Amino acid sequence: MKAIVYRKLGPADVLQVEELPDPLPAAHQLQIQVRAIGTNPVDFKLRSGTLPLAFLFAWKLPFIPGAECSGIVSAVGAAVRDFVPGDRVVAFHSALAGGAYAEKWVVDQKYCLRLDDRMDFATAAAFPLAGLTALQLLDGLPGAAALVYGASGGVGHLALGIARQLGFTVTAVASKRNGDFLRELGADHVMAYDTENFGEGAGVYDVFLDAVAAYTPASAARFLRPRGAYLTTLPHPLHFLPAWRRGLKYRGAMVQSRKADLARLQDWIVSGKVKVHVDQKLPLAEAKEAHRLLEQGRTRGKIVLLND
Ligand SMILES: NC(=O)c1ccc[n+]([C@@H]2O[C@H](COP(=O)([O-])OP(=O)(O)OC[C@H]3O[C@@H](n4cnc5c(N)ncnc54)[C@H](OP(=O)(O)O)[C@@H]3O)[C@@H](O)[C@H]2O)c1
Repeated sequence: MKAIVYRKLGPADVLQVEELPDPLPAAHQLQIQVRAIGTNPVDFKLRSGTLPLAFLFAWKLPFIPGAECSGIVSAVGAAVRDFVPGDRVVAFHSALAGGAYAEKWVVDQKYCLRLDDRMDFATAAAFPLAGLTALQLLDGLPGAAALVYGASGGVGHLALGIARQLGFTVTAVASKRNGDFLRELGADHVMAYDTENFGEGAGVYDVFLDAVAAYTPASAARFLRPRGAYLTTLPHPLHFLPAWRRGLKYRGAMVQSRKADLARLQDWIVSGKVKVHVDQKLPLAEAKEAHRLLEQGRTRGKIVLLND
């Protein structure tokens, strides 16, 4: 099989196409003929060594990146009962485990969900990591009004739809060029951080979901009602005390692959309640270009890699 491999940390150029033996499924694993792969900022952060404690990751080299894919089951391990070859599936494990930037991927069955017939492969590969992050941040929070900051990116655009499904009125914030995009996604109110004085124009909310870590609990507090919740995709140990002192709930994302959450998201997506936007589809061999685009930080929705 062909796979994208890097043998040292560095810029996008370290990503190379290599020919490798097909991976074989262990007892509880599925071998997936990969059709589409979701890309995420964590993929380039691991590759470039810019994540905290990146030196610990270096022992995993050579490494095939990729946390999520959709495709067709091509073989199953001896203990697998719930899937058979030919099933269309979506799978999300972990960016640190990697492996999805390939033509074949083996992954434990507990990280896989059968695809609804209405779900195409590109959409299926685009929603797990970003969608689960948003859902797991928002789920169970009380309140009526949510602000999603950075609402045009992978996590943000799904958070917008998910928050509405959870009953919130959503104010979505992105740059002005993304205003129409946010309205198409169903935002109740749209604000542009690059043309308005956001600080003056914004109201107060029960929930502030900061998808791009532009704020902290201290700087977000003035936009939150008493006992409101500040949610961030990039948690930091120094956030806890300021949040506690201001009486705010604090949640930092540590996305987990949970089949029940994946199924919930799939239901919302196929019924049109949550929209997934695939901005670019590139062939697997162009993974370098996908990483360069991701690193610019201007992705609208998701970038997906495709196998032929
Ligand atoms: N901890 C976890 O479990 C977890 C899980 C998922 C993601 N994350 C992290 O969350 C972050 C976001 O991930 P993502 O997949 O959503 O990234 P992404 O898709 O690459 O985000 C790109 C979007 O960010 C917006 N943006 C950039 N700078 C902004 C700013 N200053 N204010 C408002 N919007 C801004 C851009 O909109 P404009 O062009 O309109 O500015 C663009 O649409 C990443 O750092 C990622 O590593 C963490």
